[in-house]
Amino acid sequence: MSEQPVLEVRDLHTHFFLRRGVVKAVDGVSFSLRRGEVLGLVGESGCGKSLTALSLMRLLPRGGARTVKGEVLLDGENILERTPAEMREIRGRRISMVLQDPQTSLNPVFSIGDQLREAIQRRKRAPHAEIIKEAVAALRRVEIAAPEQRLDQYPHQMSGGMKQRVVGAIAISGEPGVLIADEPTTALDVTIQLQYLKLLKRLQAETGMAILFITHDFGVVGRMCDRVAVMYAGRIVECGPVRQIFEAPQHPYTRALIASVPKMTGPPPGMGGRLATIEGQPPSLMDLPVGCRFAGRCPLVEQRCLDAYPGTVRIGPEHTADCWKVVPA
Ligand SMILES: Nc1ncnc2c1ncn2[C@@H]1O[C@H](COP(=O)(O)OP(=O)(O)O)[C@@H](O)[C@H]1O
Ligand SMILES: [Mg+2]
Repeated sequence: MSEQPVLEVRDLHTHFFLRRGVVKAVDGVSFSLRRGEVLGLVGESGCGKSLTALSLMRLLPRGGARTVKGEVLLDGENILERTPAEMREIRGRRISMVLQDPQTSLNPVFSIGDQLREAIQRRKRAPHAEIIKEAVAALRRVEIAAPEQRLDQYPHQMSGGMKQRVVGAIAISGEPGVLIADEPTTALDVTIQLQYLKLLKRLQAETGMAILFITHDFGVVGRMCDRVAVMYAGRIVECGPVRQIFEAPQHPYTRALIASVPKMTGPPPGMGGRLATIEGQPPSLMDLPVGCRFAGRCPLVEQRCLDAYPGTVRIGPEHTADCWKVVPA
């Protein structure tokens, strides 16, 4: 049980420093990821999921974003202290990422083969023939038929689903211990989405890599994840095993999210089970309240919720929630 997690994030803060103020996009995020585990990170659009992922990769967008506090322990080593050159060695080999839109990950002017070769050559020197063989194997692994022929194609000659497979092949070619998948199926058609999720699941089982699976779709969580962390306004407000979260969600925000997943009458999980709107708006990340961030939308709100942040309450061995109203274990 005490095995060191492959990834541990402690009190991470990534803020945007803008002329008009500080946007606290990631504001005290902590979680851990075990070897071979799939952890879902779920929450409404704008809550800080992508910024969390980009902070872990040390690939923050330009324009004032900075990680100002926290630790990101990869195999126990705080990678926030690594130099940019050291980070280039770490990315792809130990931690890798698949973005939402394959368009932004692939270079339109290079062939698929060139881009795969480049990824492989970044981490090893080998004769050309061997690199090609590895590129073909990487495409085969993501279930791309006739991979030899695909090598000469350009991104625009492929469908969205195919491109996202190529992105996946590149991301896992270095056999990273951690893969971050940031809404990897959002840009894909519904049927292609399901195939991609199955593929990810299979790759995870085969390689034993851990996945941080980011989604705004709670329906997909049940299909993909072992545990889930629910994010709201820059923080994780509940975290626990998927079964427990679905059966006994503790945070009122998690309850609202789960209630909004279409049940029997709706499409099956992962097939468009989008979050229904929860009444009200999350607080501005530029002007966060001192109390619970969900208080303004919470049906159970009390004075103490407005006065102070509840802190993280342990409900079970692996289940926590940031709420004044939950009963500690
Ligand atoms: N380039 C940017 N400049 C300023 N603020 C940004 C920028 N990108 C994101 N943000 C802020 O960070 C918040 C979190 O963004 P993001 O992590 O992309 O959310 P999510 O992935 O959960 O939809 C947004 O609500 C927005 O306020
Ligand atoms: Mg995002």
